[in-house]
Amino acid sequence: MNGKVEYSGLDQAAVEALAGELASQAPDSGVLSLEGELGAGKSTFARAFLRSLGVTGTIRSPTYTLVEPYAIDRAPGPEQVLHLDLYRLGDPEELDYLGVRDEIDQALLLVEWLSQAGGELSADLCLLLQGDPADPDHRDVTISPVTLTGADWLRRLSGH
Ligand SMILES: Nc1ncnc2c1ncn2[C@@H]1O[C@H](COP(=O)(O)OP(=O)(O)OP(=O)(O)O)[C@@H](O)[C@H]1O
Ligand SMILES: [Mg+2]
Repeated sequence: MNGKVEYSGLDQAAVEALAGELASQAPDSGVLSLEGELGAGKSTFARAFLRSLGVTGTIRSPTYTLVEPYAIDRAPGPEQVLHLDLYRLGDPEELDYLGVRDEIDQALLLVEWLSQAGGELSADLCLLLQGDPADPDHRDVTISPVTLTGADWLRRLSGH
C-alpha cells in the first residue's frame, strides 16, 4: 500500500512529538507495529504515545510481562491501549494466554517485535526507527500503512 511518510534526523523530543500526533489521531482499535533494532527508540515512542493519551502512572516496559494494558480516559480515541514487547515470546500461541486475542477488537495495540507473533497478529501501520551509530541522538522514521485502517490513520496526521 502506498502513502508512506518519512522523517529524517529527528531528535528524541521530535520523535516524542510525532508519537503525540499519531496518538491524537489514533483509531479505537488497530495495530501499530514499532520496528527498529535494539535501542532504536520503540519503547521511548510508546511511552510518549501513552503519556499524550493522558496516562499519568508508571509506564513499565513490557520486556518480561510481554503486555502492559492501559485504560485511556479520553474521548474520542481508544479506550484501551496495550503495549506489547514480543521479543521474548516463546510461541505465538502464548498470545492467547496473554489475553491479547480477546482484546484485539476493542483495543489499540502498540507492538514491539511483532515479527515474533508469527502471523498471529498483523499490523495496520508500521513505524520504523533507524539510527546512525555516528549520530546516536537522531533517528530516521518511516511510517508505512499496511491496511486501510492504517492508511486512514496516517492521512489524519497533519499535512497528509
Ligand atoms: N531521537 C531519538 N529517538 C528515540 N530515542 C532516542 C533518540 N535519541 C536517543 N534516544 C535514546 O535511545 C534509547 C532508546 O531506547 P528504547 O528502550 O526506547 O529502545 P527500544 O527500541 O525499545 O529497544 P528494545 O528493542 O531493547 O526494546 C533511549 O535511551 C533514548 O533516550
Ligand atoms: Mg523496547
